[in-house]
Amino acid sequence: MLIHSKQNWEMPARGITPESTWRNRREVLQSAGFGLAGWALGGGYAGAQQAARPAGQGAAGAAAWFREGKSNPKFNRQDISPEAAATGFNNFYEFSVDKQQVKNQVGKFQTEPWKVEITGLVNKPMTLDLDDLARRMQSEERVYRFRCVEAWSMVVPWTGFPLADLIKLVEPKPEAAYVRWWTASRPKEMPGMVSQPWYKWPYYEGLRMDEAMNPLTLVATGLYGKPLPKQNGAPVRMVVPWKYGFKSIKSVVKIEFVRRQPATFWNESVPAEYGFYANVNPGKAHPRWSQATDKRIPTMEVEPTPVFNGYAEYVAKMYKGNEI
Ligand code: MTE
Repeated sequence: MLIHSKQNWEMPARGITPESTWRNRREVLQSAGFGLAGWALGGGYAGAQQAARPAGQGAAGAAAWFREGKSNPKFNRQDISPEAAATGFNNFYEFSVDKQQVKNQVGKFQTEPWKVEITGLVNKPMTLDLDDLARRMQSEERVYRFRCVEAWSMVVPWTGFPLADLIKLVEPKPEAAYVRWWTASRPKEMPGMVSQPWYKWPYYEGLRMDEAMNPLTLVATGLYGKPLPKQNGAPVRMVVPWKYGFKSIKSVVKIEFVRRQPATFWNESVPAEYGFYANVNPGKAHPRWSQATDKRIPTMEVEPTPVFNGYAEYVAKMYKGNEI
C-alpha cells in the first residue's frame, strides 16, 4: 500500500497514550520487540451496550440511539481490543501515513452537518443527512474482527446498520451490479491530500451487489458505543469484515449504483498488490509479505489469520474461488 514511504506496518516506535491514561500496562509489547512502550492500553470496552430506546425522543434522541444500538449477540466477542488502540492507530491517508498521527491531524475536519448522496441505477435516488439515517435505519452494535492487508488485526465494536437496509430504501434497478462510494474531498481540512498529491483523491471503493447486500456489510456510525471518531471515518463509513481493511472506506459522501466493476483507489494506485475483491485469504501471500498470520494491536500477539477473516460461513458461498 505504501509506495512512497517505508512500510509503516513496521510501526514507528512512538508512544500514543499519555501516562495519565494508562490502565493495565501490557509489557508484552516490549517483549514483542516493537519498542511500543506507549501502547500501554487497558480498561477496554465495557461490553455490550444495552441502552433502552427512550419513548417520545426528539431528533437528538434519535441520533443518540442511532449511535448506541443494542448489541447483536450473533456478533459478539470477548477479545475486544482496547478503545485507545482502535482510535489511536489508524489508516486514513487523507490525514497522515503515520498511523499514530492520524488522530492528531483530524482537528479541522468538519463532520457535521453531513450528507450522503445515493445515486446511479436506483428508482429512488436520495440525499440523506445524519438525522434522516437515524430516523430510517435501525442501528445495532456488532463486534467484528478487523484485518488490515498490512497483517495486523483488531477486534472492534461498531454501531451501525446493514448496508442492505439502505439499499432496499433506494430500490436499485435490475441492471445495478456494483456499488461504488467516495470519501469526502476537503484538502483544506485533510492535510494528507495536500502532502501526497500523487494519489488519485478522493478515496474511492466498491463492492459487487451481492457483497453489498450481504448481511455482514455494515454502515458504521459509532465505535465503542460512542459516535464514530473522526480518525475512524466519522460520521459514516463502511465495514466489510471479511475483506482487507482498505475496502472499509471512511467518511462516505456519495454512493452510486453502477453496471460495471468500478475502479478502486488502491487497485488503481498499485494494481499488482491490491485487488478489487481483497477477500482475507491466509493462503495467498501479498507480493511483499505473508498473509498467513496477523499481529493483534496493541499486544502484537501473532494469530493465524482465518480464511475470510473468520466469516466464511456468511460469505464463502458468494465466491467461485477466482475472486481475490
Ligand atoms: N478510507 C479512506 N478514505 N482513506 C484511507 O486511507 N484506509 C483504509 C480504510 N479506509 C482508508 C480508508 C485502510 S488501509 C484501513 S486498514 C482502514 O480504513 C483502517 O480503519 P481504522 O483506522 O478504523 O482501523
